[in-house]
Amino acid sequence: MASSHKLTVFAHRGARGYEPENTLRAFKRAEELGAKWIELDVYPVEDKLVVIHDLRLERTTNGTGFVWNQSLDTLRSLDAGKGEKIPFLNEVFDTISEETGINIELKWHGAAALVASFLRQRKLNLNRILVSSFIHAELLVFKKLMPEVPIGALTGELPLKFASFAEELGAYSIHPTIEFISSEFVDDAHQRGLKVYVYTVNHPEELEWMRQLGVDGVFTDFPDKIRG
Ligand code: G3P
Ligand code: CA
Repeated sequence: MASSHKLTVFAHRGARGYEPENTLRAFKRAEELGAKWIELDVYPVEDKLVVIHDLRLERTTNGTGFVWNQSLDTLRSLDAGKGEKIPFLNEVFDTISEETGINIELKWHGAAALVASFLRQRKLNLNRILVSSFIHAELLVFKKLMPEVPIGALTGELPLKFASFAEELGAYSIHPTIEFISSEFVDDAHQRGLKVYVYTVNHPEELEWMRQLGVDGVFTDFPDKIRG
């Protein structure tokens, strides 16, 4: 069924289509382009949450090796594009407006506990936070630590029982890839009371398709072109 409601649009890794992904520059640009929500990826390193997508450093920085076995000093010495540093999560919150929503994706084991402790210390308006992960066990750890914060269950597959795993997790939303989306899947998620936020939608034709399917939101690299 086609939806007439406004879609929630998440600026994927910031305005990734224009600036180096997951940098302060990309998040600021997303806001300038009108994004009400940003999405970012975090790894726990030492006692900090570092904002970066890949398991390794090569694609997005001038460093080499795994993210999780570097020292913070090494990570901070790297260029993440256009002279930007790999940011810490607290710096993102210091940089963007208090009105902007943040979807924090837990990229690695151990991120849940650090994110929960960060959110508690920061005393944020929790309405602007959504925590998601492909690592469902990690999401469950987070849910137990902070049941008051909504969680989003990511999937890059088409599960046999559609959205049942997300309902089992007590998720607020399910985040499927556009690669296998279908009206059957969307309807199943809705029947289970879940919002459906789809990644990654970069073309107006894809947005139109998502509207036809009745999804609730999309992740995009181009928050100026893909509007709710
Ligand atoms: O959260 C949506 C999307 O970011 C998930 O995939 O690989 O871009 O982190 P990925
Ligand atoms: Ca992500």
